Amino acid sequence: MVTTLAFDVYGTLIDTHGVMTLLEELVGDKAKDFSRTWRDKQLEYSFRKGLMQNYETFAVCTSQALDYTCASYGATLSAEQKKELMAIYRVLPAFDDAKEGLTRLKDTGNRLFAFSNGAADALEILLNNAGIRELFLGVVSVDDIKSFKPNPAVYSHFLRKSGATGGESWLISSNPFDVIGAISAGMKSAWVRRSPEAIFDPWGIEPTITVSSLVELDDKIARS
Ligand code: LAC
Repeated sequence: MVTTLAFDVYGTLIDTHGVMTLLEELVGDKAKDFSRTWRDKQLEYSFRKGLMQNYETFAVCTSQALDYTCASYGATLSAEQKKELMAIYRVLPAFDDAKEGLTRLKDTGNRLFAFSNGAADALEILLNNAGIRELFLGVVSVDDIKSFKPNPAVYSHFLRKSGATGGESWLISSNPFDVIGAISAGMKSAWVRRSPEAIFDPWGIEPTITVSSLVELDDKIARS
Protein backbone atom coordinates (compact mmCIF):
# COMPACT_ATOMS: atom_id res chain seq x y z
CA MET A 1 0.00 0.00 0.00
CA VAL A 2 1.37 3.41 -0.97
CA THR A 3 1.10 6.01 1.76
CA THR A 4 0.65 9.65 0.82
CA LEU A 5 1.40 12.26 3.47
CA ALA A 6 0.04 15.82 3.33
CA PHE A 7 2.02 18.13 5.59
CA ASP A 8 0.42 21.26 6.92
CA VAL A 9 2.97 24.06 6.63
CA TYR A 10 2.43 27.05 8.95
CA GLY A 11 2.71 25.93 12.58
CA THR A 12 3.61 22.32 11.66
CA LEU A 13 6.77 22.50 9.52
CA ILE A 14 7.35 26.23 9.74
CA ASP A 15 7.48 28.16 13.02
CA THR A 16 5.11 31.12 12.77
CA HIS A 17 6.60 32.55 15.95
CA GLY A 18 9.88 33.09 14.08
CA VAL A 19 8.95 36.78 13.99
CA MET A 20 9.65 37.05 17.74
CA THR A 21 13.05 38.77 17.55
CA LEU A 22 11.74 41.65 15.45
CA LEU A 23 8.47 41.79 17.43
CA GLU A 24 10.45 42.12 20.68
CA GLU A 25 12.22 45.13 19.19
CA LEU A 26 8.92 46.65 18.05
CA VAL A 27 6.49 45.92 20.90
CA GLY A 28 8.76 44.86 23.79
CA ASP A 29 7.31 42.45 26.34
CA LYS A 30 3.98 42.26 24.50
CA ALA A 31 5.73 40.31 21.72
CA LYS A 32 4.59 36.84 22.77
CA ASP A 33 0.92 37.75 23.15
CA PHE A 34 1.09 39.90 20.01
CA SER A 35 2.44 36.96 18.00
CA ARG A 36 -0.30 34.64 19.28
CA THR A 37 -3.10 37.15 18.55
CA TRP A 38 -1.68 37.74 15.06
CA ARG A 39 -1.70 34.00 14.31
CA ASP A 40 -5.20 33.45 15.81
CA LYS A 41 -6.65 36.38 13.82
CA GLN A 42 -4.96 35.19 10.61
CA LEU A 43 -6.71 31.83 10.97
CA GLU A 44 -10.03 33.42 11.98
CA TYR A 45 -9.91 35.60 8.87
CA SER A 46 -9.26 32.55 6.67
CA PHE A 47 -12.24 30.73 8.24
CA ARG A 48 -14.52 33.76 7.79
CA LYS A 49 -13.48 34.54 4.23
CA GLY A 50 -13.98 30.84 3.42
CA LEU A 51 -17.47 30.81 4.94
CA MET A 52 -18.41 34.05 3.23
CA GLN A 53 -17.11 32.63 -0.07
CA ASN A 54 -15.22 35.85 -0.37
CA TYR A 55 -11.73 34.46 -1.00
CA GLU A 56 -8.56 36.48 -0.68
CA THR A 57 -5.11 34.91 -0.33
CA PHE A 58 -3.67 33.75 3.00
CA ALA A 59 -1.11 36.57 2.70
CA VAL A 60 -4.02 39.06 2.72
CA CYS A 61 -5.43 37.34 5.84
CA THR A 62 -1.97 37.65 7.45
CA SER A 63 -1.60 41.32 6.57
CA GLN A 64 -5.12 42.27 7.72
CA ALA A 65 -4.58 40.27 10.94
CA LEU A 66 -1.38 42.27 11.55
CA ASP A 67 -3.33 45.55 11.23
CA TYR A 68 -5.98 44.23 13.64
CA THR A 69 -3.34 43.10 16.15
CA CYS A 70 -1.55 46.46 16.06
CA ALA A 71 -4.86 48.22 16.77
CA SER A 72 -5.72 45.76 19.52
CA TYR A 73 -2.38 46.23 21.36
CA GLY A 74 -2.21 49.97 20.71
CA ALA A 75 1.03 49.43 18.77
CA THR A 76 1.69 52.21 16.28
CA LEU A 77 3.86 50.46 13.72
CA SER A 78 4.88 52.35 10.57
CA ALA A 79 4.04 51.02 7.11
CA GLU A 80 7.74 50.17 6.76
CA GLN A 81 7.81 48.17 10.01
CA LYS A 82 4.70 46.22 8.98
CA LYS A 83 6.31 45.54 5.62
CA GLU A 84 9.38 44.22 7.42
CA LEU A 85 7.25 41.86 9.55
CA MET A 86 5.43 40.60 6.44
CA ALA A 87 8.80 40.06 4.73
CA ILE A 88 9.99 37.90 7.64
CA TYR A 89 6.74 35.92 7.40
CA ARG A 90 7.73 34.91 3.86
CA VAL A 91 11.01 33.38 5.08
CA LEU A 92 10.10 31.93 8.47
CA PRO A 93 12.31 29.10 9.77
CA ALA A 94 11.46 25.40 9.87
CA PHE A 95 11.08 23.71 13.26
CA ASP A 96 14.24 21.83 14.32
CA ASP A 97 12.70 18.38 13.79
CA ALA A 98 11.35 19.07 10.27
CA LYS A 99 14.28 18.02 8.12
CA GLU A 100 15.05 14.82 10.01
CA GLY A 101 11.41 13.78 10.36
CA LEU A 102 10.66 14.37 6.66
CA THR A 103 13.86 12.64 5.51
CA ARG A 104 13.06 9.50 7.51
CA LEU A 105 9.54 9.37 6.05
CA LYS A 106 10.79 9.90 2.52
CA ASP A 107 13.52 7.26 2.88
CA THR A 108 10.95 4.67 3.97
CA GLY A 109 9.01 5.11 0.71
CA ASN A 110 6.20 7.49 1.66
CA ARG A 111 4.96 10.10 -0.86
CA LEU A 112 5.39 13.53 0.77
CA PHE A 113 3.47 16.67 -0.16
CA ALA A 114 3.16 20.11 1.42
CA PHE A 115 -0.51 21.08 1.70
CA SER A 116 -1.38 24.54 2.91
CA ASN A 117 -3.58 27.59 3.06
CA GLY A 118 -0.62 29.53 1.62
CA ALA A 119 -0.50 30.29 -2.10
CA ALA A 120 1.84 28.08 -4.16
CA ASP A 121 4.42 30.79 -4.96
CA ALA A 122 4.64 31.81 -1.28
CA LEU A 123 5.03 28.15 -0.26
CA GLU A 124 7.81 27.51 -2.78
CA ILE A 125 9.81 30.47 -1.42
CA LEU A 126 9.15 29.51 2.20
CA LEU A 127 10.06 25.81 1.86
CA ASN A 128 13.10 26.50 -0.32
CA ASN A 129 14.37 29.06 2.14
CA ALA A 130 13.87 26.60 5.03
CA GLY A 131 15.88 23.98 3.09
CA ILE A 132 13.10 21.35 2.96
CA ARG A 133 11.47 21.85 -0.46
CA GLU A 134 13.36 19.01 -2.15
CA LEU A 135 11.89 16.48 0.28
CA PHE A 136 8.41 16.90 -1.24
CA LEU A 137 6.99 15.42 -4.43
CA GLY A 138 4.82 18.51 -4.75
CA VAL A 139 3.15 21.48 -3.14
CA VAL A 140 -0.66 21.64 -3.07
CA SER A 141 -2.34 24.94 -2.24
CA VAL A 142 -5.97 25.71 -1.34
CA ASP A 143 -5.52 28.74 -3.61
CA ASP A 144 -6.25 26.41 -6.59
CA ILE A 145 -9.89 26.23 -5.50
CA LYS A 146 -10.16 29.60 -3.73
CA SER A 147 -11.17 28.32 -0.33
CA PHE A 148 -9.48 27.49 2.96
CA LYS A 149 -9.09 24.62 5.41
CA PRO A 150 -11.21 23.06 6.88
CA ASN A 151 -13.62 23.16 3.91
CA PRO A 152 -13.96 19.44 2.95
CA ALA A 153 -13.47 20.50 -0.68
CA VAL A 154 -9.83 21.43 -0.03
CA TYR A 155 -9.00 17.95 1.33
CA SER A 156 -10.70 16.37 -1.75
CA HIS A 157 -8.64 18.71 -3.88
CA PHE A 158 -5.48 17.49 -2.18
CA LEU A 159 -6.37 13.82 -2.84
CA ARG A 160 -7.08 14.50 -6.51
CA LYS A 161 -4.00 16.67 -7.04
CA SER A 162 -1.62 14.27 -5.28
CA GLY A 163 -3.08 11.18 -6.96
CA ALA A 164 -3.59 9.63 -3.52
CA THR A 165 -6.80 7.80 -4.35
CA GLY A 166 -5.20 4.35 -4.65
CA GLY A 167 -3.64 4.22 -1.20
CA GLU A 168 -3.74 5.50 2.32
CA SER A 169 -3.55 9.22 2.85
CA TRP A 170 -2.69 11.14 5.96
CA LEU A 171 -2.75 14.77 7.00
CA ILE A 172 0.02 15.73 9.42
CA SER A 173 -0.75 18.89 11.38
CA SER A 174 -0.21 20.71 14.66
CA ASN A 175 -3.52 22.50 14.14
CA PRO A 176 -6.44 20.58 15.69
CA PHE A 177 -8.95 22.25 13.31
CA ASP A 178 -6.97 20.86 10.38
CA VAL A 179 -6.75 17.34 11.87
CA ILE A 180 -10.52 17.30 12.50
CA GLY A 181 -11.16 18.66 8.99
CA ALA A 182 -9.06 15.93 7.37
CA ILE A 183 -10.60 13.09 9.40
CA SER A 184 -14.09 14.37 8.62
CA ALA A 185 -13.13 14.35 4.94
CA GLY A 186 -12.06 10.68 5.13
CA MET A 187 -8.29 10.93 5.59
CA LYS A 188 -6.20 9.59 8.45
CA SER A 189 -4.48 12.24 10.51
CA ALA A 190 -1.57 12.73 12.89
CA TRP A 191 -1.71 15.52 15.42
CA VAL A 192 1.71 17.00 16.16
CA ARG A 193 1.38 18.08 19.77
CA ARG A 194 4.53 20.09 20.20
CA SER A 195 3.77 21.17 23.75
CA PRO A 196 1.92 19.38 26.57
CA GLU A 197 -0.18 22.54 26.96
CA ALA A 198 -1.72 22.13 23.48
CA ILE A 199 -5.40 21.16 23.76
CA PHE A 200 -7.35 19.16 21.20
CA ASP A 201 -10.92 20.33 20.50
CA PRO A 202 -13.38 18.14 22.43
CA TRP A 203 -15.61 17.39 19.44
CA GLY A 204 -15.60 13.60 19.78
CA ILE A 205 -13.31 13.27 16.74
CA GLU A 206 -9.83 12.03 17.69
CA PRO A 207 -6.56 12.10 15.73
CA THR A 208 -5.54 8.69 14.32
CA ILE A 209 -2.21 9.11 16.13
CA THR A 210 -0.59 11.83 18.26
CA VAL A 211 3.14 12.60 18.25
CA SER A 212 5.20 15.20 20.09
CA SER A 213 7.74 15.58 17.29
CA LEU A 214 7.97 14.94 13.54
CA VAL A 215 10.72 12.36 14.10
CA GLU A 216 8.20 10.02 15.79
CA LEU A 217 5.98 9.88 12.72
CA ASP A 218 7.88 7.29 10.71
CA ASP A 219 7.56 4.59 13.34
CA LYS A 220 4.01 5.43 14.46
CA ILE A 221 2.55 5.62 10.94
CA ALA A 222 4.19 2.31 9.98
CA ARG A 223 2.65 0.62 13.04
CA SER A 224 -0.84 2.14 12.80
C1 LAC B 1 -1.63 26.07 6.72
C2 LAC B 1 -2.24 26.78 7.92
C3 LAC B 1 -3.37 26.03 8.48
O1 LAC B 1 -0.40 26.05 6.50
O2 LAC B 1 -1.34 27.01 8.90
O3 LAC B 1 -2.43 25.52 5.96
